[in-house]
Amino acid sequence: MRAIIHTRYGPPDVVSLQQINKPVPKDNEVLIKVYATTVNRTDCGFRSAQYFVSRFFSGLLKPKHQTLGNEFAGTIEATGKEVTLFTPGDKVFGFNDKKFGAHAEYMTIAEDDAITTIPGHLSFKEAAPITEGSHYALCNIRAAKVKEGQHVLVYGATGAIGSAAVQILKHFGARITAVCNTKNVTLVKSLGADEVIDYTENDYTQTDEEYDFVFDAVGKTSFGKCKPVLKKNGIYISTELGKRTENIFLALVTPLFGGKRVLFPLPTINKADVNFLKMLVETGQFTPVTDRTYPLEQIIEAYHYVESGQKTGNVIIEVVSE
Ligand SMILES: NC(=O)c1ccc[n+]([C@@H]2O[C@H](COP(=O)([O-])OP(=O)(O)OC[C@H]3O[C@@H](n4cnc5c(N)ncnc54)[C@H](OP(=O)(O)O)[C@@H]3O)[C@@H](O)[C@H]2O)c1
Repeated sequence: MRAIIHTRYGPPDVVSLQQINKPVPKDNEVLIKVYATTVNRTDCGFRSAQYFVSRFFSGLLKPKHQTLGNEFAGTIEATGKEVTLFTPGDKVFGFNDKKFGAHAEYMTIAEDDAITTIPGHLSFKEAAPITEGSHYALCNIRAAKVKEGQHVLVYGATGAIGSAAVQILKHFGARITAVCNTKNVTLVKSLGADEVIDYTENDYTQTDEEYDFVFDAVGKTSFGKCKPVLKKNGIYISTELGKRTENIFLALVTPLFGGKRVLFPLPTINKADVNFLKMLVETGQFTPVTDRTYPLEQIIEAYHYVESGQKTGNVIIEVVSE
């Protein structure tokens, strides 16, 4: 089968298209024919190992997973002998950050993992980007215990995480102020933001508003900068470690003193989460924002674009045309 392989950490051109053997599902696994996947910031982090700490998950000296790709949409091709939840031909989507492997024509995943059936009306390209940004958003929203009527600032509402966060916060009944660039104001309003601040024209900290939760979905702010706009017991979460890797330290220390605090929840995803996201999609409450689509052969270009930090929502990889 065709697969994207990398045997060392580095820039986008460490990956190449190769022919390798099709994987064989274990007794508890399904074999999926992948039609669509994504290149996202998780793939970039595992490919580059830019943050040394990520090597504790991806392999200390060289990549443990030679084929990346965590989001997938495709059909069940075969099942292991213990599988009861899926049958060949089922259309499925999900997230696999245990083994990755979706940047290939076939991949395997345990039937109990983060995989479910595709909502009837969706194409593979529409289903592939449902899980990555959204599950990071969901973990952070749950950690902040957002309640109906709370006021939340989403900084960077146009990335995969931010655009999902606005829609999921709406589901939880929050009042949302979103920060983005001029070109994306209309898009962010359409996602459900109650107010939009164009960061090229206005400083989101120059306001009388106070927020229950500031969620920096692109890691460009700091707790210090956001503290003045947080309510007394307000919560700050960033998707990045911070300029001086301070967010982990602040997450350990600030809760000890009460008042305004930083959280740094570790993201997780399971089948119930994927089914929750599926329900949001089916009920029209969540539609992943998509940007460009590349064929599998052009994955290096896709990596460069994703790493430009300018994608809007998600970048799709078409593995097999529908
Ligand atoms: N290490 C990991 O495994 C991992 C995994 C997932 C995510 N993350 C982190 O999570 C963050 C978000 O990832 P993502 O995929 O959702 O999105 P992303 O690709 O980082 O975000 C792209 C968006 O960010 C906006 N943006 C860029 N600079 C901005 C600024 N100064 N202020 C406000 N918005 C800005 C851009 O819109 P405009 O052009 O409108 O500004 C663009 O739409 C990233 O920092 C990523 O590294 C890390």
